[in-house]
Amino acid sequence: MIGRLNHVAIAVPDLEVAAEQYRSMLGASVGEPQEEPQHGVIVVFVNLPNTKIELLYPLGEKSPILGFLEKNPAGGIHHVCYEVDDIVAARDRLKASGARILGDGEPKIGAHGKPVLFLHPKDFNGCLVELEEV
Ligand code: CO
Repeated sequence: MIGRLNHVAIAVPDLEVAAEQYRSMLGASVGEPQEEPQHGVIVVFVNLPNTKIELLYPLGEKSPILGFLEKNPAGGIHHVCYEVDDIVAARDRLKASGARILGDGEPKIGAHGKPVLFLHPKDFNGCLVELEEV
């Protein structure tokens, strides 16, 4: 059911330092910071040949990244995103298997303008999983 790894999202305590590290130390192709107020984050996209890394930094007081950085002050992997062909079919299959969908269970438009869902980390080995319809 799941396809390509679309991205790995890493919450970072300092976006400039993290972006520069990926640019200079790791020699990656790193974009400019983009504010995404509807998701409560500032994102820097790192484009790799086979996937993307998203460096996430909190934006606003209700940012979902704030609590994560409180628990992980040095930053850490926040979620992984897998591609699916049909997000509603994927959701229904997961629900039937007993997995919990976060929020109201309806797909939302994600950071790339495509429908996404998040799965409860406790159902997936402690890892927050995002599904994106491509
Ligand atoms: Co994501």
